[in-house]
Amino acid sequence: MAIATKTSASGQTAPGSDPAAPQQRGSYWITTFGCQMNKADSERMAGILEAMGYAPGLDEHTADLVLYNTCTIRDNAEQKVYSYLGRQAQRKRTNPHLTLVVAGCVAQQEGEALLRRVPELDLVMGPQHANRLDTLLSQVESGQQVVATGEHHILEDITTARRDSAVCAWVNVIYGCNERCTYCVVPSVRGVEQSRRPEAIRLEMEGLAERGYREVTLLGQNIDAYGRDLPGITPEGRRQHTLTDLLRFVHDVRGLERIRFATSHPRYFTDRLIDTCADLEKVCEHFHIPFQSGDNDVLRAMARGYTVERYRRILDRIRERMPDAAISADVIVGFPGETDAQYRHTLDLVEAVGFDAVNTAAYSPRPNTPAADWPDQLSEAVKVERLQELNALVETQAKQRSARYAGRCEEILVEGSNPRDPGQMMGRTRTNRLTFFPSSRPDGSVIAPGDLVSVRIDQVRAFSLSGAVL
Ligand code: SAH
Ligand code: SF4
Ligand code: F3S
Repeated sequence: MAIATKTSASGQTAPGSDPAAPQQRGSYWITTFGCQMNKADSERMAGILEAMGYAPGLDEHTADLVLYNTCTIRDNAEQKVYSYLGRQAQRKRTNPHLTLVVAGCVAQQEGEALLRRVPELDLVMGPQHANRLDTLLSQVESGQQVVATGEHHILEDITTARRDSAVCAWVNVIYGCNERCTYCVVPSVRGVEQSRRPEAIRLEMEGLAERGYREVTLLGQNIDAYGRDLPGITPEGRRQHTLTDLLRFVHDVRGLERIRFATSHPRYFTDRLIDTCADLEKVCEHFHIPFQSGDNDVLRAMARGYTVERYRRILDRIRERMPDAAISADVIVGFPGETDAQYRHTLDLVEAVGFDAVNTAAYSPRPNTPAADWPDQLSEAVKVERLQELNALVETQAKQRSARYAGRCEEILVEGSNPRDPGQMMGRTRTNRLTFFPSSRPDGSVIAPGDLVSVRIDQVRAFSLSGAVL
């Protein structure tokens, strides 16, 4: 949909240049907020921009095209975007050739209202439109202000993403979310579930392996739901396409060493999936399974569809099959009506499980979600107090979990050099602990990104490890 007009966009083909080469269009800058889904979308959009003839810019204050890929999961994430936009809007007043794009979840949530709030914007585009960035920008170039937030069938990605890492890649397998957790804005901004075909996923993974990638993380907001929108029933009467089947289907892609997946929903985490992860060598022993609350009444009010007991059974089964598995999770404190006793049940669960990492958040009321309208909202003071207490427990536990690595030899996939100490390299254990080590082996040979090295762990911290290469 198009409104109003804008002055022409940047860049012209240089005289005498190759007509087949993309037009040179100046520089771009992308700032990404939010989850891995957004990061993956940003990498695809960067790929599209480069195919269009944009070159990576040095910073957001000089780039010719600035794109904010936004997140609205909590109010503070949303507000951050407006302060970034304010600065760019000001720049645009003196530099009308600047192209300003807001993509992602705030774009989807606000749509045209965003244009009213920031009239300097050229393009507002929801997450389902990420693969259409070139088409949308050509509408902008023809002098329109464009809002693309309609429900859209996500097209297979035909461009090559410009990925930040040369070793680890994200691969979307399911977009959207069909759950209705009463606090969550995601279904309203990401739309209904759309699974990619297994063949397309495998093809993308083969291409990544050929280009030297060693690790793939399969992505979905609710990845356990993978395949339920695809047709097909097995002779035994089961759904033909599940995450378990997908893992088996992609597992033997040559050149890939590690496969991960996120985010898992306890409601759909099956024993069959756990057994498959244990059986398939490349699937790493790290599971991110948010529980959100340790209290059954709160879980019911959140409409999560499982109990604490069911959650515990999943973790028990994982640890039975993969005793060293790392478990991480997300949790919310201060959900409307959460009593002190209910909050203590969350502490109890954290205490009992021993998580390797937990993303904690204070409940934030979101537009178009039922819980935002409930009368029993808690004060910020209570939420912050609970959050701080929980964070302290999470850190203590993470330290305890890290301690088990001391003296052990861990297989590390080398990702690159440590940005804070270029003399050091960094990578991760199979269980996803960040690990630092020297940049050469004892025999003097240099370690390169993509190598698998064995590191003897001699320092453990809550969320990272250090050691010597063997
Ligand atoms: N699909 C995943 C999580 C997606 S959102 C799942 O079902 O677990 C990432 C995390 O943000 C959630 O796990 C939740 O802990 C947090 N979150 C979502 N909505 C929130 C809200 N309104 N306030 C605070 N935290 C929220
Ligand atoms: Fe949000 Fe629930 Fe969907 Fe996760 S499963 S994205 S928390 S609605
Ligand atoms: Fe945020 Fe959208 Fe992800 S709201 S957490 S960027 S799905």
